[in-house]
Amino acid sequence: MENTFEKELSVIRKKLAAFGQEQLLPPADAAGVYGGSALREYLGVLEKIDFEQMNELYRFARETSSGGEGSISPIPVTVAAALSERKRARLFAKGEKILREGGFAAVTMAGGQGTRLGHDGPKGTYDIGVAERSLFGIQAKRLLRRAELSSCPQIPWYIMTSGENDAQTRDFFRANGYFGYSEDNVRFFTQFMLPMVDFDGLIVRDAPMHVKQGADGHGGIFRAMHRHGIVSDMRARGVKYVFIGGIDNVLVKLCDPLFIGFTADGGYGAAGKSLIKRDPREKAGVFCLRDGRPHVVEYTEITEEMAEAVDGNGDYIYGDAHILCNMFSIGMLETAGEKGLPYHVAVKKTKYIDREGILREPDAPNAYKFEAFIFDAFSQCGNMGILRVKREDEFAPVKNREGEDSPETARALYESALRRGALD
Ligand code: UTP
Repeated sequence: MENTFEKELSVIRKKLAAFGQEQLLPPADAAGVYGGSALREYLGVLEKIDFEQMNELYRFARETSSGGEGSISPIPVTVAAALSERKRARLFAKGEKILREGGFAAVTMAGGQGTRLGHDGPKGTYDIGVAERSLFGIQAKRLLRRAELSSCPQIPWYIMTSGENDAQTRDFFRANGYFGYSEDNVRFFTQFMLPMVDFDGLIVRDAPMHVKQGADGHGGIFRAMHRHGIVSDMRARGVKYVFIGGIDNVLVKLCDPLFIGFTADGGYGAAGKSLIKRDPREKAGVFCLRDGRPHVVEYTEITEEMAEAVDGNGDYIYGDAHILCNMFSIGMLETAGEKGLPYHVAVKKTKYIDREGILREPDAPNAYKFEAFIFDAFSQCGNMGILRVKREDEFAPVKNREGEDSPETARALYESALRRGALD
């Protein structure tokens, strides 16, 4: 049995030596101890790793500490509530026309780990205690309802999963009869994973033949859509505008004719919905321009001076929070998919196999994780529109198990929107 792996092993051994990653070599008696198929699978994983990229990312992690420099200035924002009735009706009608012509698709990003919620299963399967019984169910119902209200065909719905939750997500849809959606109109695709690297630059294993990998962040969506043929599929259907949102905002309007019309009318490559921050320290990134290009400064990177800055009316200059509700033109998705996005570094605590082959559980962060952020794509488009909406109508995130942004707060906000008839 072992001989069949000898050639493959010797290629991998050379590669690992060349990149200083020999700790990843399988144990000498791997085929005997773990079985041939486990060894084959592991070698397959090692073959797919781009070691050059990993070494580059490690160097980047050692050198960088912030999200970058650049001169920051305010970005123009359109306040939805201040639109005249005429303009609102015109934009809405424009959006509905695009919908009826099949020019729109919705994407839900559901590849996150949902660590803070701590639910056993994909976050979209979580039940906040409403009639729809899961976050996926809530989104499906809303999309179906919009199609009915706008007299348009079912809206193509794409769902991004991760290697970790893809099978469970598909099973959940099957078990729930696709929530009334036609199977042809729901398509799943997985985002890519990247190995985690320890502070010495060594790729981490969390079992003798298992590399510790993490989803490459919500910004990984562009590369994933491009590589999995999702953008071509959309083009073939005649889609021109694509909304991308998260799974964990129970008030997300995956299909909002006003927002589609706003994007089309402005000729924007990308558009984002915003809402005014509750207070300057709310944990949300804010829209702005950096060196004249659309940008989001993360709450972890914002200076006190920037967060507190007010204009002559006492309004926050950088108060428009990014809520992961964005629209892209199909052309923009192609560009971002080909170019990809830069990675950011997060420091994480993860179990690891040490040099003696023993599994260790550290008390402090011990590894780098690499993630791309969706909003880094904004700078690739010169022309971006921001539409400020009402928090109570469009934002109720499920992030934490308890307290702020928890299932309980989201349920209360959802029920209140339902009572006000704000769920169309
Ligand atoms: P968050 O950044 O809140 O992460 O994702 P999360 O994984 O849901 O939760 P924590 O931080 O582990 O507690 C915001 C949205 O982006 C998606 C999530 O599924 C969610 O809809 N996301 C995030 C991805 O699809 N892939 C990722 O790699 C990260």
